[in-house]
Amino acid sequence: MERIPVSGPWITAKEIAYVTDAVTNAWYGNANVWHERFEKAFAEYVGVKHAISLPHCTAAIHLSLLALKVGPGDEVIVPDCTWIASAAPVTYVGATTVFADIDPQTWCLDAKSFEACITTRTKAVIPVNLYGNMPDWDALRAVAARHNIAIIEDAAESIGSEYKGRKAGSFGVASAFSFHGSKTLTTGEGGMLLIDDEEAHQRCMFLRDHGRAPGDKMFWNTEVAYKYKMSSMQAALGLAQLERIEELVERKRQIFGWYREALSDTEDIALNDEAPGVKNTYWMVTAVLDAKMGWTKERLIAAMAEQAIDCRPFFYPLSSLPAYGYLEQAAMARSRNTTAYNVSPYAINLPSGLNLTQAHVEHVVESLKALLRSRP
Ligand SMILES: Cc1ncc(COP(=O)(O)O)c(C=O)c1O
Repeated sequence: MERIPVSGPWITAKEIAYVTDAVTNAWYGNANVWHERFEKAFAEYVGVKHAISLPHCTAAIHLSLLALKVGPGDEVIVPDCTWIASAAPVTYVGATTVFADIDPQTWCLDAKSFEACITTRTKAVIPVNLYGNMPDWDALRAVAARHNIAIIEDAAESIGSEYKGRKAGSFGVASAFSFHGSKTLTTGEGGMLLIDDEEAHQRCMFLRDHGRAPGDKMFWNTEVAYKYKMSSMQAALGLAQLERIEELVERKRQIFGWYREALSDTEDIALNDEAPGVKNTYWMVTAVLDAKMGWTKERLIAAMAEQAIDCRPFFYPLSSLPAYGYLEQAAMARSRNTTAYNVSPYAINLPSGLNLTQAHVEHVVESLKALLRSRP
């Protein structure tokens, strides 16, 4: 069997037709046609008023913090286990990052730990819908409301997921999606910022185009800001993918089902949770091994790679990374965040690309089981 990649998209003739149209026609007066169509359809899909297409999700989180006027002296709480892009924009704006623990079931931000991390300086929280799962949004929103803390929802990995019938991306004052090549809906690289509030939306539109009014043609910049825009070709690709979102999400759920079935006789491996009332879209299928098995994620990933199967580590706690490790906040997190430090060493992402067949999944699981029967 050929090498099995960890992730990848599902591209059809529709995507190729839309991108071909964009590269042929989306110039001159039509330069923004695809952005407008993609943004309108995306906002409608999630049920939020405004959508702004961007070069990546990191820009969406950055703009959200700027629109909320988060800056030096403020603290922003993030879950300890996430991709660094959830947290890096906190540093871009000069604020302090506080790393809260994850919930042992969902692996998303834990509401109790979030509350325990709040101080008089806390201005915002960035919960992450990790690997397509949803946190306990009722609990998180109640804590945030009680302490008057703004929620920026990092929905990068969770398009199509739902919590009590409500779509991912509709839980914060702002939310951010990623369309990186590994994501369920991809534009190669790309992101979307969703926002309801008119003033915040206007501020983000201004900041994303070098500090000038949207539509300005006189090169009149009133602040030094940023250039955050995706191309028409990406917007066209995104729209084609969005028009196929139900089948993309269903395929992700089917892939997870194949893994669940193939691993049903194995008690030492926990897969992604789906709590009652949650629709998990399983961006990544994650296997958490019982620590007693003696396999660390690094050894297992190396052993799977030898079998031509590409896996990835469950995110290292941010507070353990050299990028943050020297900070006082990271030292506090290392002694506080027991779930993050108990789960992360023994968990890997299994291949979850949209090109997988059931035969691929069975092959991955057989290889995994054979390895786990041997000694690490
Ligand atoms: C949880 C999370 N947040 C943010 C991002 C950043 O997305 P992008 O690479 O589009 O900036 C990612 C991307 O992998 C992610 O997984």
